[in-house]
Amino acid sequence: MNMRSLLQGIGILCLCLLLSSQVLASGHGHTKQVKKGILLVAFGSSYPQARASFENIEAEVEKAFPGVPVRWAYTSKIIRHKLAKEGKKLDSASMALARMMDEDFTHVAVQSLHTIGGAEFHDLLSIVNGFESMPDGFTKILVGYPLLASSHDLEAVREAMLANIPDERKPDEAVIFMGHGTHHPSNAFYQAMAYEFQRKDANVYVGTVEGAPSLEDILVELEAKGTDKAWLMPFMSVAGDHVRNDMAGDAPDSWTSILAEAGIETETVLKGTAEFDNIVDIWVEHLKGAFSHFEQHP
Ligand code: CO
Repeated sequence: MNMRSLLQGIGILCLCLLLSSQVLASGHGHTKQVKKGILLVAFGSSYPQARASFENIEAEVEKAFPGVPVRWAYTSKIIRHKLAKEGKKLDSASMALARMMDEDFTHVAVQSLHTIGGAEFHDLLSIVNGFESMPDGFTKILVGYPLLASSHDLEAVREAMLANIPDERKPDEAVIFMGHGTHHPSNAFYQAMAYEFQRKDANVYVGTVEGAPSLEDILVELEAKGTDKAWLMPFMSVAGDHVRNDMAGDAPDSWTSILAEAGIETETVLKGTAEFDNIVDIWVEHLKGAFSHFEQHP
């Protein structure tokens, strides 16, 4: 093959690619109407009280994006199946996206309502990547970061949560925020968060149920300081099972019981982080970040 016919070949190939992309974009002659939507993705909770958290987020999102349809998905299959038995049908992220695709949404901003970018968040990214490559699917689909995704977030969350501590707490009393914790490398965000709090108030700690720092790590410090009272607050979006049982429950291995055993009196706050507007604002900022790409690069 000589150079000339090679170039012609490439030219024809390019033309073909150009034509096929135009056909795809117009959906067999029908130009797609731009239809933007939001999908909020939470771990989920079977506690009726969790509705307070989710309703609060939804109201804030609807206020920030007037007229944009908002859908929900829960990543926990166990919780979805449990709720389904009670007649409450909730979608997984892929079910919700399939529905939105069928309803001809062109631009979807998926907002992770997770605290850190752990396994659940990375699974969500894989799902979104799958939808991104589907033929005749969304024009654009983007994911907003979870609550803690940058040093700016760490500072913003620190300021918000310090402001959310009840006024009755005295400076020498400890505050322990209970996070979930994970085997995933992003568990380090809990340790970074703990460091951020400590920089502002040496009596404010972050502990986790399933990762590091553990309550035992914190207990060593409380005992060294002679702390006799601690406030326990969730560092989870929803005050669900972990908060009501692992944190505030009566069982001997709950955090209140372990601290009582060590002679430390506790006060518990049963309010998920998503019930605080100043925290929801941070998720909404992340969603705005994702959504703004639709205007900049439609
Ligand atoms: Co858990």
